[in-house]
Amino acid sequence: MAAGFIVFMCIVVASKGIDINSLKLEQVVMLGRHNIRTPLTEGLELYSSKPWPKWNDAAGILTPKGLRFEGYIAEYISQWLDTEDFFEGCPQKDDVLIYANTKSRTLESAKAFAETAFNNCNISVQHYENLGAFDPLFLPIFHNKTEAFKKQVAEEMKKRLSEMNLTHAYTELGRILNIKDADICKKLFMCDLNTQQSEIVLEDGEEPNVNGPLYIANAVVDAFIMSYYEGRPMSDVAWGQIETDQQWDLLAKIITENQNIRFKLQSAAKDIASPLLKYMFNIFNSGKPKFTLLVGHDSNLNSVLTALEFKPFERKLQFEPYPIGGKIVFQKFSDRKGQYLKVEYIYPTTKQLRDGEKLTSNNPPQRITLELNGCPISPTGYCQWSEFMKLNELFD
Ligand SMILES: *[C@@H]1O[C@H](CO)[C@@H](O)[C@H](O)[C@H]1NC(C)=O
Ligand SMILES: *[C@@H]1O[C@H](CO)[C@@H](O)[C@H](O)[C@H]1NC(C)=O
Ligand SMILES: *[C@@H]1O[C@H](CO)[C@@H](O)[C@H](O)[C@H]1NC(C)=O
Repeated sequence: MAAGFIVFMCIVVASKGIDINSLKLEQVVMLGRHNIRTPLTEGLELYSSKPWPKWNDAAGILTPKGLRFEGYIAEYISQWLDTEDFFEGCPQKDDVLIYANTKSRTLESAKAFAETAFNNCNISVQHYENLGAFDPLFLPIFHNKTEAFKKQVAEEMKKRLSEMNLTHAYTELGRILNIKDADICKKLFMCDLNTQQSEIVLEDGEEPNVNGPLYIANAVVDAFIMSYYEGRPMSDVAWGQIETDQQWDLLAKIITENQNIRFKLQSAAKDIASPLLKYMFNIFNSGKPKFTLLVGHDSNLNSVLTALEFKPFERKLQFEPYPIGGKIVFQKFSDRKGQYLKVEYIYPTTKQLRDGEKLTSNNPPQRITLELNGCPISPTGYCQWSEFMKLNELFD
């Protein structure tokens, strides 16, 4: 009986692999996207003659609500770290790195996070010296300057564009904009987003881009989404023309395609994300600092996820492919037997953002466990740290 029980227990331990109750959280590296900002594109008046909602700031600036909401995320993360006994009181300066891109929305998001998660601990936000330039760490450009590489990427982007089908989304957007009455129709003769082809734009030292209908539609839907998150009355969000989740999902296909055609590239994601990945693997390798938050953009999250070859996952309760304020959280755990990696995508839902809800254990953000192709996870979501560290070789 006793022997049978021991055999039984061994099987349980072997099949579960890891006793999650004995795990200690040792290191956290988060790659995050800034919080709610003003729309990125100015001059939207060209695309609709209806009155566009006014914003207090120029394009791409963190809004006061975005600042507040980043604090809610920080509070949630810091409560989670407390449950893991991660820090006792204020961390030592060397134990924390909060590093943001040079854009004001990333810097301000990082500050809000630092001040809330490490309240009164005097943790400052680090950044690239030249605040007038995009930090090369976060700049999602190609580093391989050969013609062969450029050609290969151009082919992949063109193929993706040709396979894309946004017919319904463009028709719906044209209806919402009443595009036939807009200057873009009257002066530039684009009266239906479906009648022109989008094109890829590849210039040395610039982000891979698109122009034409996909560029326009992406800019417009971005403005709708930010108005929605900002909590404006629905009459100020797409003039009250979006009434169902299905409409949001349809329109969000546009921003998803734009994001993926530009950055979810099999031929280029490793190259685009290589500075960030080298930086992150240095942190994993050295085990220091204990806690890192890198604040960048959706393009960074997308290219890093693609380059590391994460398995596809479902984004619940969100229509954005890389939700605003979301963070990919790499966690290193250990027990007496070994070290393990767990990766979660922690992001707020559209409702939490729109309603400006505080995030707590009773109203948590989404936490989706991710899996790398190169590091299979246990049923509880952990993979072997040593397997994960082998991926480092891809970016040496
Ligand atoms: C806060 O940190 C900065 C450097 O990071 C230091 O110069 C300053 O003296 C610190 N302030 C307090 C109150 O500890
Ligand atoms: C640049 O890309 C080309 C084409 O894919 C490849 O053959 C070459 O090895 C790459 N160079 C570097 C330094 O990665
Ligand atoms: C695009 O998708 C719609 C359905 O969503 C379909 O009716 C249409 O035929 C498709 N167009 C092309 C060119 O595949």
